[in-house]
Amino acid sequence: MTSEIVRIGVFTSGGDAPGMNAAVRAVVRTALHEGKQVFGIRRGYQGMIEGEIDEMFHRSVSNIVQRGGTILKTARSQEFLKREGREKAHRSLTAHGIQGLVAIGGDGTSRGATALFEEFGIPIVGVPSTIDNDLYGTDFTIGFDTAVNTALEAIDRIRDTAESHDRIFLIEVMGRQAGFIGLAAGVAGGAEEILIPETKSDLDTLCKKVEQWSREKKGSRIIIVSEGDELGNAAEIGKKIAARTGADFRVCVLGHTQRGGCPTAKDRILASVFGNAAVQALLEGEKNVMVGEVNNEIVRTPLRETWEKKKPIAERLMRLYRVLSR
Ligand code: F6P
Repeated sequence: MTSEIVRIGVFTSGGDAPGMNAAVRAVVRTALHEGKQVFGIRRGYQGMIEGEIDEMFHRSVSNIVQRGGTILKTARSQEFLKREGREKAHRSLTAHGIQGLVAIGGDGTSRGATALFEEFGIPIVGVPSTIDNDLYGTDFTIGFDTAVNTALEAIDRIRDTAESHDRIFLIEVMGRQAGFIGLAAGVAGGAEEILIPETKSDLDTLCKKVEQWSREKKGSRIIIVSEGDELGNAAEIGKKIAARTGADFRVCVLGHTQRGGCPTAKDRILASVFGNAAVQALLEGEKNVMVGEVNNEIVRTPLRETWEKKKPIAERLMRLYRVLSR
């Protein structure tokens, strides 16, 4: 691998995701393996603006592959959204002699990375990492598998109590404007209904189903609600159903539990592969791409496309759950 880049910066940004640490470890150790210097930027773009930059070594990333969260910390920087903030960030990168960056995060991170490259020409490679799985250019993002398994564990527990009481539960999962967690956890948990932003949710149809379940004397009934669904959040939808059908229900919002915890083996491996691939891409002269995995192949997608294009949900899974959730 030949490259003029000697000093590489790495940071995590936006919502944390299990497996980010494994990605940081892979970036640091690959860069050192290639004879480069590597610098950790703390608190994402905000830390970049404030110059929170320190050199990292092999031991800086010891004992983190299994840890949730991010040792580099993360932030959602408002200052970086303005040109002035980005100029400050660029100045501190220059002051530290950083010649290339690896940006680990979701769509906000990709947008920021696109701006840094387009405005200042600094080479930057993205590593897709968000529990939401909503980045174009990769089948899976780091953290998604762990989040789905965390949600699934909760769904299974709720199923026990729902079955004992013959109750309806509305379980709200994360995903901002994307239903990837909802669909995957719903299919795996045998949900009776899955409401996600990508498909049209219709209150009449939902209420008819609820009434049919009562007529059939169905025991537990689980409705997965992805945050961002057009009908509202889980509590709001529950009230709407109750107002029309008189059905009793309980709500459970899984919230940030889905963001923490030890990454699964799948996420640790994905993070290790992506971190390594990102440094390789940078050293091969890529300036403006995100690494990803599509159909089991490592691919590179222009940064701008990763957040401008919308990744479709798996329609076949949507059809499948409708067949199976009787
Ligand atoms: O980006 C991941 C995500 O977990 C979304 O699903 C959620 O809407 C959002 O972050 C919440 O983020 P925060 O509480 O950090 O603002």
